[in-house]
Amino acid sequence: MTIQLMNSFSLTSYLEEKRGIVEKNLLMLLGPPEIYPSILYESMHYSLLAGGKRIRPVLTIAAAEAVNGTTEFAIPAAVAVEMIHTYSLIHDDLPAMDNDDLRRGKPANHKAFGEAAAILAGDALLTQAFSLLSDKFLWINTPANDVLRIIHEIGIGAGPLGMVGGQQIDIESEGKNLNLSNLELLHRKKTGALIRASIRAGGIAGGATDIQLSALTEYAEKIGLAFQIADDILDVEGSPEEVGKSTGKDSKQNKNTYPALLGLEESKILENKLVNEAIDSLKEFDEKAEALRAIAQYIVERKN
Ligand code: IPE
Ligand code: IPE
Ligand code: MG
Ligand code: MG
Ligand code: MG
Repeated sequence: MTIQLMNSFSLTSYLEEKRGIVEKNLLMLLGPPEIYPSILYESMHYSLLAGGKRIRPVLTIAAAEAVNGTTEFAIPAAVAVEMIHTYSLIHDDLPAMDNDDLRRGKPANHKAFGEAAAILAGDALLTQAFSLLSDKFLWINTPANDVLRIIHEIGIGAGPLGMVGGQQIDIESEGKNLNLSNLELLHRKKTGALIRASIRAGGIAGGATDIQLSALTEYAEKIGLAFQIADDILDVEGSPEEVGKSTGKDSKQNKNTYPALLGLEESKILENKLVNEAIDSLKEFDEKAEALRAIAQYIVERKN
């Protein structure tokens, strides 16, 4: 019975369903246009609804479900992590950072709205995320104490100890050759930390026990690193049409990446090893964790 259930799981329909729910809530929780200065609204809306993969909010939901929660429990955290992620992309593309013109298949935010609006849209998405997280009317199941834990998790993952810290290391390491352990640290911070927070937040919202939460954390740390290795590989092997952003830029900008340090083949071996270990971390979970298992595989097989 269990085996049949596992075999019948379709990641394609799971992703489609959850992305739909995430996008509906993103639009709703962004609020009505008339409450914002219009350029700010347009700029936030432009990047937020530009069709990303929504992998972080889907992971938040999948983590909540894996521990017997429902999608609805995880919505505030899911929306918040996608807003924070979108802000990080807008700022990552600025001329002062990676200076990229294409994002999610469209002109980067600063190309469409100018640098000032791009900076402010990023600031607004980041702060809006924490306003939503701390809005007690949005949480339908999670006790206040767990809501506080979630806010703290996401703050740590997104901030100087996590993503922002990683972005600083990324920028200051351009043109220098990091060794493997420093490269791993960079990737764990700039990308792994927000993915870890997304999954832990979903776990907490779903009512995870301490044991479940530590298994989810192990899973999250493995796929968080694998996700950025896969991103590095796509920069080498992908095309802008497929990935929706410019490619080949990491080597031009002398970025520290796994393919640059280990080569493509070794990088692929490593990302696959991480995925297998991630799936292994979930061995105590039943078929409700099937989405998490399938997403781990998808992270290294994706073409965008
Ligand atoms: C790109 O993230 C930036 C990284 C942290 C690697 P995604 O690959 O999740 O981008 P979207 O959200 O699908 O556009
Ligand atoms: C970005 O890493 C990580 C972020 C926190 C945004 P990259 O600079 O490699 O992301 P892309 O390739 O531009 O999406
Ligand atoms: Mg970058
Ligand atoms: Mg970039
Ligand atoms: Mg990249």
